[in-house]
Amino acid sequence: MASRKLLLLPGDGIGPEAMAEVTKLITVMNAEFGAGFETEAGLVGGAAYDAHGEAISDADMERALSADAVLFGAVGGPKWDDVPYEVRPEAGLLRLRKEMELFANLRPAICYPALAESSSLRKDVVEGLDILIVRELTGGVYFGEPKEIIDLGNGQKRGIDTQVYDTFEIERISGVAFELARTRQSKVCSMEKHNVMKSGVLWKEVVAETHKAKYSDVELTHMLADAGGMQLVRWPKQFDVIVTDNLFGDMLSDVAAMLTGSLGMLPSASLGAPDPKTGSRKALYEPVHGSAPDIAGKGIANPIAMIASFAMCLRYSFNMVAEADRLEKAISDVLDEGYRTGDIMSEGMREVSTSAMGDAVVEKFRALSA
Ligand code: IPM
Ligand code: MG
Repeated sequence: MASRKLLLLPGDGIGPEAMAEVTKLITVMNAEFGAGFETEAGLVGGAAYDAHGEAISDADMERALSADAVLFGAVGGPKWDDVPYEVRPEAGLLRLRKEMELFANLRPAICYPALAESSSLRKDVVEGLDILIVRELTGGVYFGEPKEIIDLGNGQKRGIDTQVYDTFEIERISGVAFELARTRQSKVCSMEKHNVMKSGVLWKEVVAETHKAKYSDVELTHMLADAGGMQLVRWPKQFDVIVTDNLFGDMLSDVAAMLTGSLGMLPSASLGAPDPKTGSRKALYEPVHGSAPDIAGKGIANPIAMIASFAMCLRYSFNMVAEADRLEKAISDVLDEGYRTGDIMSEGMREVSTSAMGDAVVEKFRALSA
């Protein structure tokens, strides 16, 4: 039996509730299908701050580096609004991304037929939507130096962040986008702001060169990121794969999330480069939604984004493609049958708790596996 090491970092807010539904699946997959998952749990975000005074401990960081994959819930909440900047909850997530070198963030936005009515956009605009945002995750303004607030000594301060990209960073992220496009509709749209940013000029140039050198079979277009945001809400189905930098990717993926009906539906995978010897990649899987402190602890959060993130884990970290397909089908079937958490509730549907939604998906997954 293969051994598959998972580190679970549920974090804060609704993170632990959502993660509990994934652990149900892991238990069933181990007991009934010999999946051989070995799980360990750690602390991240506010939970880690409360326990050790930092956003993730060195010991948990070590565990993350040696796991086959990390499943991450969510971090943050008003309780930690006043903790020092270096140890704020988000710093735990950023440290994981940076030290695990998870440069490629995959954020698929799929509109399940059953949810086409829940989007704030017209049904014909979002029905059948299936796009993939590939966001650069370890560079750009999130990590560029200098990053500081300096005192100008005249009663003024200056806040500085630095947007910086090197050729290799743009090459590797666009390579991931082109490779993934080949498994889909073979279309990539690259978004930047070359009209105002030097990093945008280089971005566009390097994406075009990478395309010419290795991926000319894929259709490539370029769009300014502001226009891209507008096109995403105007007619999102024009896109297949979108590749963009860290900050634009953060914003555009939240926009894309809303197209699908609810932020509670969107999974993501953050991947490192394949190890030259084993071919395996460091990886972290997390729902795009945050910790949603307003509904935490009430048992009403939507666990689908977390469960769908686990499906991405099966697909990308363990090559368990059939299981991933089945899990995604289980989610879609459960929605077709009318199960809804509060965030996606609509008339005539059946409103259920986090745990009941998780149970329904587990049962459906079992039935589909029989
Ligand atoms: C995301 C989040 C994070 C980000 C925060 C929590 C640091 O918004 O994953 O999209 O900005 O990257
Ligand atoms: Mg975000």
